[in-house]
Amino acid sequence: MADELQTRTDTTLADIAAAPDGEALEALRVAALGKKGWVSALLKTLGGMTPEQRQSEGPKIQAVRAAVADAIAARKAAIDAAELDARLANETLDLTLPAPETPRGSVHPVSQVMDELAEIFADLGFAVKTGPEIEDDWHNFTALNMAESHPARAMHDTFYFPDTDAEGRKMLLRTHTSPVQIRSMMAEGAPIRIIAPGRVYRSDSDATHTPMFHQIEGLVIDRDIHLGHLKWTLETFLKAFFETDDIVLRLRPSYFPFTEPSVEVDVGFAVNDAGKRTLGGSGDAPGHGWMELLGSGMVNRRVIEFAGLDADKYQGFAFGVGVDRLAMLKYGMDDLRAFFDGDNRWLAHYGFNPLAQPTLSAGVGERA
Ligand code: DAH
Repeated sequence: MADELQTRTDTTLADIAAAPDGEALEALRVAALGKKGWVSALLKTLGGMTPEQRQSEGPKIQAVRAAVADAIAARKAAIDAAELDARLANETLDLTLPAPETPRGSVHPVSQVMDELAEIFADLGFAVKTGPEIEDDWHNFTALNMAESHPARAMHDTFYFPDTDAEGRKMLLRTHTSPVQIRSMMAEGAPIRIIAPGRVYRSDSDATHTPMFHQIEGLVIDRDIHLGHLKWTLETFLKAFFETDDIVLRLRPSYFPFTEPSVEVDVGFAVNDAGKRTLGGSGDAPGHGWMELLGSGMVNRRVIEFAGLDADKYQGFAFGVGVDRLAMLKYGMDDLRAFFDGDNRWLAHYGFNPLAQPTLSAGVGERA
């Protein structure tokens, strides 16, 4: 009996030591230590023994159980280590591989310009806000002082949805980023200093108009804000954006329902020998001209009231600029439609290095 146990133990230990992999080892474990394993069966016999038998046989059986368990643990550690070594030998990562010859993927000029604008305005203390592209006509028009019958509504070539919202408001694709002014004032009160970049939609399409385009809205609401603050802010922003101090602005009286007074801002340009326009200098100088750049003005007190603020206490200025147009001017693209064709050759040519974030210190317009 004792010899039989010894032989069986030796065979099991030899099998365990020779187990080629985890699966074989597990089968050996089940055969010995599993519920129906032979070692477990021996342990069960202890219950039916006399105390004396148990005294002599117990330690022997326990010793076999311990020896088998230890052998299995040792073999398992060895198998795991061998498997890890094999994986490490196979899964190599060659860090000396050169980078791809052509960079893959680039940042679209519209995204790049929006990042540049966010960087410039963050430096002036402006937060970035967004609003929904599917708007209701109250935020897009009414609260911006364009009542139902206002003729300016017709100028916007609006895409309307067939259904109204729960409150009976007509739903539309926003025609400008100005509704974000209303949403920000209502959500945050005053004082406020924000820019709101985003997509806008109008039913319009030719070489300089696409049904979807991008605007950036600016809004400052505080006490004692005047036209001088507006002019300084626009000048500072445009000099930083075009990366030149030679930016001359002309503020022209204009009309927008949501500003009073309203000003359109022109920037002076020169025409070079090749007939190309370059920004800089007064538009009144010989060989120069003025180019319309953006709309702005002091926020109409009716708009401040629509947004629930006290127009006797607070006033401010607002502006709206076409982002695509800014990109065309700065980076020299001349067909707006190509912006939205998704042509990889265009993107490879005009796109920006995704690893070069625009910063004021390194230059907001680093080329790829
Ligand atoms: N929302 C105007 C448009 O899309 C642009 C604009 C003009 C925005 C004057 C303003 C502003 O904030 O003050 O044509």
